[in-house]
Amino acid sequence: MINSKKVELKNLHNIEKKIEELEIFLSNHEFQKTVYYKSWYKDFSVIYGQKFADIRLYVLSAILYFIGYLFIVKVIRSENKESDFEHIDLDLLKEIQIEFKKDYRNLGIFTIDYYNQFLKIFPQESLKSLTEIFHYLLKSILDSKLNPEYSFDFLLQNFLSPLIRHKSGEFYTPPFLVKKMVNFSYKFGESVLDPSCGTGNFLIEIIKKILRTNKTREEKLKAINNIHGYDINPLSIFLAKLIFLYLLKDEFSNYEVNLYVFDSLFQSDKILKTKFDLIIGNPPWYTLRDIDSLENQNKVKNLAEELDIKPGSKNVLNIEISALFFYKAKKDFMKEKAKIFYVITKGVITGSHTSRFRNFKGFTDIRIWLFSKKIEKIFNIEFICLYARKSKSSKVISKFKIPAYEFSLKKNKESLKYFDDIELVEDSSITLVPYSIEKKAGKILTKKLISQDEIRNLLPIKASYYKNLFHKGADLNPRNLIFITYKNENKELVKINIDERVLKRAKSPWNKKEFENELIEKRYIFKVVKSTELVKFLIYDYYYVFLPLEKENLNFSISTLGKYAKKFYDMINKIYLINKKSTTKNRSLMENLDRWSKLRNQR
Ligand SMILES: C[S@@+](CC[C@H](N)C(=O)[O-])C[C@H]1O[C@@H](n2cnc3c(N)ncnc32)[C@H](O)[C@@H]1O
Repeated sequence: MINSKKVELKNLHNIEKKIEELEIFLSNHEFQKTVYYKSWYKDFSVIYGQKFADIRLYVLSAILYFIGYLFIVKVIRSENKESDFEHIDLDLLKEIQIEFKKDYRNLGIFTIDYYNQFLKIFPQESLKSLTEIFHYLLKSILDSKLNPEYSFDFLLQNFLSPLIRHKSGEFYTPPFLVKKMVNFSYKFGESVLDPSCGTGNFLIEIIKKILRTNKTREEKLKAINNIHGYDINPLSIFLAKLIFLYLLKDEFSNYEVNLYVFDSLFQSDKILKTKFDLIIGNPPWYTLRDIDSLENQNKVKNLAEELDIKPGSKNVLNIEISALFFYKAKKDFMKEKAKIFYVITKGVITGSHTSRFRNFKGFTDIRIWLFSKKIEKIFNIEFICLYARKSKSSKVISKFKIPAYEFSLKKNKESLKYFDDIELVEDSSITLVPYSIEKKAGKILTKKLISQDEIRNLLPIKASYYKNLFHKGADLNPRNLIFITYKNENKELVKINIDERVLKRAKSPWNKKEFENELIEKRYIFKVVKSTELVKFLIYDYYYVFLPLEKENLNFSISTLGKYAKKFYDMINKIYLINKKSTTKNRSLMENLDRWSKLRNQR
């Protein structure tokens, strides 16, 4: 999910050049060959994929790590708040680290070896650049006037590009939503886990809630010690520990820190033995399609199977990682009757890829929160909050009704900002029911959830008379290579250009114009309709595509292809092969177009 409306780091470009210099310096000194870089790469290539785990990301994450230390000096110890940080140098950072290890040893706030090496390698001149970067970032935090506990949320989300963070679903939850969810679900003293806690937004809110009560110190300490967070990213856990320290240092010097670097989906060790009363959080929202390695894709497919939520083969690429987090929590982390409350993509209530998710096997007391468009806009993807309890029985619920509450802003604001302290009000509630429940190949499929009133107005549920006459067509991708507009050149030849409509929703690398004014034989142009332009009894728009097929028999043969069409096909095939994901098995563009023989099947 992408938060578009955040407080922003201003003039970031001023330090970009300095960051680039550090990156070049490390590369020139072959830092990538050191054990430090290699052990960093081992961790971070799992988190962000091999493509993004590069020297630049190493530099950015190392900078964030050291900002953590400076946060201790400036915010936790409130030292030199007003100074302009000019004295930040290697010695100071070393000094802080030594003190840090001594003072906070009992809190298990680890240091991260592969980052410690970062400072040591630079000559004095480069350290000056580094100081300037630290200075700029720390000043940005302090100037932002945010509560200090949100400093790292602010920094992480502004400093690392959304493209990188998408790979591990690192988009945090705004405090106003976190607050509402915590108030609804958390009862004082309960054991709580956020299995993908990031820098701890949900846990921070729970700590604040505990501190606000008028319970005894002992009771509060016990409740704090019951808070747990896991995250796959060691940097996030390190920063979360610092925020805990900031919130608790004055009153509680001896609290337990239960924050662990842990892969909540695939790691299995002793942490898993602990079970909780409440699982709360916002699991990552990427899908199987976003995973680069074939091995990791297979792990995800197997886990979806094991959790009984794997979709049919045509939908496998859309497996939602957040859906796995929901069912995995039930299996490994929830006590009997425990509660779970997640921010999750709306796709889980409507998508065809989540029809087994909607069986809610092993869950009961399901509730949904829906949001007005203005609130939804805070993320770029439609989302819901999904609440449930673990049920004693692991049966699929056959007939269920889910109450859904619709929230909007109390004051009708023009635009909503991520850190705004706003109140959500419940506008109305509806009851959601499955459109239908079907059994296919021994598997129960719960079709999308719709409102009970809507279902009353629908025609009786049975397959449409036309259903058997319709077949899903081919997925004609990548569109930027084959969707065209054309002008007649002569009787036989046409001049083609890309149909620019397809670029609007295209994603990299398929969002480029790859050809201009190319000639092809007219007979290779086909008229196509996309499902989005097909409504009941009407096709209201269409496209032209280039396909290297003979019209009479839909044959594909390179040797008999027209001269111009062959040249054009060779060109776009090359572009396809260069840009396709390494995990895509197709060996040519044609194989991709004709997946499942959908293109040439003459049905
Ligand atoms: C959407 S963020 C949520 C962070 C925090 N709960 C919040 O809402 O502000 C998702 C988090 O999941 C973490 N993550 C991704 N895959 C994970 C895994 N397999 N196990 C644990 N954490 C994971 C990411 O590092 C990221 O911090």
